[in-house]
Formats: sequence, structure tokens, C-alpha cells
Amino acid sequence: MNSKIEQLLAEVEQFTADTEQKIEEFRIKMLGKKGVLTRLFDDFKTVSAERKKELGQKLNVLKNKAQDKIKTLKDQLGNGSSDSSLSVDKTMPGVRSEVGTRHPLSVVKNEIVEIFNRLGYVTAEGPEMEDDWHVFSALNFAPDHPARDMQDTFFINTDSDNPILLRTHTSSVQVRIMEKQQPPIRVVCPGRVFRNEDISARAHCIFHQVEGLYIDENVSFADMKQTLLYFTREMFGENVEIRLRPSYFPFTEPSAEMDVSCTICGGKGCNICKYTGWLEIMGCGMVHPNVLEACNIDSKKYSGFAFGMGVERIAQLKWQVSDIRLYFENDVRFLNMFRTVV
Ligand code: DAH
Repeated sequence: MNSKIEQLLAEVEQFTADTEQKIEEFRIKMLGKKGVLTRLFDDFKTVSAERKKELGQKLNVLKNKAQDKIKTLKDQLGNGSSDSSLSVDKTMPGVRSEVGTRHPLSVVKNEIVEIFNRLGYVTAEGPEMEDDWHVFSALNFAPDHPARDMQDTFFINTDSDNPILLRTHTSSVQVRIMEKQQPPIRVVCPGRVFRNEDISARAHCIFHQVEGLYIDENVSFADMKQTLLYFTREMFGENVEIRLRPSYFPFTEPSAEMDVSCTICGGKGCNICKYTGWLEIMGCGMVHPNVLEACNIDSKKYSGFAFGMGVERIAQLKWQVSDIRLYFENDVRFLNMFRTVV
């Protein structure tokens, strides 16, 4: 009996089957009512008392092994043959993936640029790391102009006569365009600028500007005023008024500061416009002849205007964001507020 059990143990060990039917045949042979184990248990009754313990244990091992084997083979067959797609519930709602949105500053920048594109201005960009010539000298800044001061400008390398620095305004792109191209020129230049300012709710050392430039024969101050009025009304609405106040920039003559009637109170006076009814939004003016000449453009033949505005400032007027730092922190709770704006 012992050798019979040994032989069956080996048989169970080696048995494999790849169909349900073969497994079932094996089960009937081993564990069925007339199967080998039933017969062995019958024989077991006649075994002598002293061998009962040993053979009884072996018989139980055989029975368990046969049962385990059948179960394992059935499981394997179940996994392999069943159609795995059936285990996916196709009626379940899909997993939604989060879609990003444009940054509010990009939204405003694009809007500004697109308004000018519709007037025939092309978009141009220049380097953020610039040299003194493009940021200051070609734009008619005197050698001792305070804007060149370390207090305002981040210098990168001051070893040469033409120091390398981070541009403090996008007016540098005007110079790059005029050096490459003769009039007529109509460009808008959006970009990031850098100034050595303490960061506060109202100021940041990084911000964004859009520069505009129009050079051709017989371009007048009146052309500038009309262009900027058109821009303002496209941006802020039909009922908005503009006013130009005399100002000074080295690269324009005459120069002006442009205000729009307060977009919050409509000009009546509120705390946003500090009860003046007006909000300052950009600098502008007729391009200085020295600037044209520095870029090899004949200032007798050509004239033109330029303007520059801060993107954060326009965004602030659009959405009344009171703290400029929010634009740079990338807090998704803030950015999500502009989800529908794009
Ligand atoms: N570059 C000036 C600034 O950063 C803005 C500006 C003023 C640009 C007058 C111009 C301009 O083109 O004509 O404050």
C-alpha cells in the first residue's frame, strides 16, 4: 500500500491538463466515489494497528495534494481562457484627465498682440539677455542716465564697453528690428523684462511688456493717437476714453503717458483710479531722430511712433487682481479662476 501511495503521489505531482475535461477525468479517477483514493481508504481499514498512523498520514497528504492540484489547474485555466475584456465594466464613467489652461498673463498678452495683428502689425521677439547698446545707448540714453544704475538693472558682465545685462524693457526689440529692416515697419514685441526692484504687491523684479513700433513716411502724432484709441476700445470697450499727458523718455520726442478712463467707475472716481477717473496704462511718443539714425534709418525721410505697456498692469485692470505676486506663484487655486477666460 505504501508503494501504491508513493506512486500516486508522483502521478499527482506530474499531472498537468489544459482542458476542463482532462481535469475532471483526473478528479474522478483520484477522488471520485469509485476513485483510487476511495479504494485506498477502504483498504486502509484492514491495515495493521501499528502501520495505521504512518499510512493514514500519507493517505491524507495524497488526498490534499490531489485536491490542491485540481484547484490550481482549474484556476490557471480560468484565468487564461476567460475573455479578459469581460472583467472591465464598460459602463463605468471614464477617468477624467485634468486639462491645463493658459496663464492669465498669456491670455492678456495674446489679446493685446492680436488687436495689433489685426491692424497689420507683425509679432517679433528679442533676447532677454541683452547688451547695453540695444537696451540703452541706441535708445538715446545718456551715458550717465540713472536707468543704467545697478539699482535698476541686473548686470551680467560689465567687463566691456558694451555690458551684458537683463533687458529692463522691450524697447530693445525696436532697435533689433530697425537694425535689420528698413521701413515700413509695423511690429509688436511682447516679452519678459527684469528690474532690480523689491518684490511687493505692486512691483516685481520680473514682469511683462508689449512694445509697439510703426515707422514709415509721414507718420504723425495723430496717427499714434488714433491707433492707441482703437487699441484701448478693442481691449476695454467702446465707451472708454483716452488722454495723453506730456512725459519724457529718451527715445521719443515728444513723449506722452497714456491714461484710460477708469474701467471700474467709468471716470466718476473710485479707489482704483484714486478718485481721478483715469488710469495710466502706457508710455508712447514719436521715435527720436537719434534712435532712427543709430539704427541706420534716414530720419529726414522717415518718422514713426512707439509705445510700451505693462501686461500685468492691463491684467490688473481687467480682473482687479490686487497683488502682482499672484501671477508668479503658480498657485493652481488662483490659476483655476481663469479657466473660462481662454
Ligand atoms: N520702455 C518704456 C518703459 O519701460 C515704455 C515705453 C515708453 C516704450 C515710451 C515706448 C515708448 O516705446 O515710446 O517704461
